[in-house]
Amino acid sequence: MANEKQFRLKTKFVGTRGVKEYRESISTWVNENDVVLEIGCEWGTTTVQIAQHCGEVIGTDVSRDCIERARQRHPDIRFEILDAFDVRAALSIGKQFTKIYVDMSGLSGYRSLLDMISLLTMYATVFRPEAIIVKSGALKHFASNCIPWRSGKSYTKPKDTELVD
Ligand SMILES: C[S@@+](CC[C@H](N)C(=O)[O-])C[C@H]1O[C@@H](n2cnc3c(N)ncnc32)[C@H](O)[C@@H]1O
Repeated sequence: MANEKQFRLKTKFVGTRGVKEYRESISTWVNENDVVLEIGCEWGTTTVQIAQHCGEVIGTDVSRDCIERARQRHPDIRFEILDAFDVRAALSIGKQFTKIYVDMSGLSGYRSLLDMISLLTMYATVFRPEAIIVKSGALKHFASNCIPWRSGKSYTKPKDTELVD
C-alpha cells in the first residue's frame, strides 16, 4: 500500500503550446547553474537560445541530418544523435541534467498524450531534473484542467470561470 515514504517525483512538468511559448519559457526556467538537455533540437535554433542562459546545454535529435546541420550552424554547442526513447543512451551522455527541454515531432497531440507522459516520467525518474519543459499543447491543456484536491477548510472550489481554458 502507498505511504508517505514511497518515491515521489519532484520534477515540475511545464506544458507549452507552440514554439513561441516553448522558447519564451527559457528566461523563466533556465539559469546559469543549469545543465540542460534538449530532446528534439532539429537544427539547434532553440538550443542556441538556451545556451545564452545556462552553463551547459546539449542538443539532441534522432535525425542524423538534423544533428549534422546543427553542428555546422552552431559549432560552439554540443549536439548528439539520440532517440529519446533510448534513455540508456541519454544516460551515457554522462551529465546530471537539471532542466530538460522536449520538442518531439509526432508527440505533442492528444493521441500521443499517454506516450508523452510516460516518456516524461521516465526522464524525471532517471535524471530527477528540477523541471522538464515540453512543447505539447495537449499536455498544457490537460495540466490546466487538473486540480489537486486539498483536504481542509481552506479548500474552495475554483469559480467556474477559472475552470475554463
Ligand atoms: C519541431 S522539431 C524541433 C524543433 C526545435 N526544438 C526548435 O525549437 O527549433 C521536432 C524534432 O523532433 C525530432 N524527433 C522526432 N522523434 C524523435 C525521437 N524519438 N527522439 C529524438 N528526436 C526526435 C525530429 O527529428 C525533429 O527534428
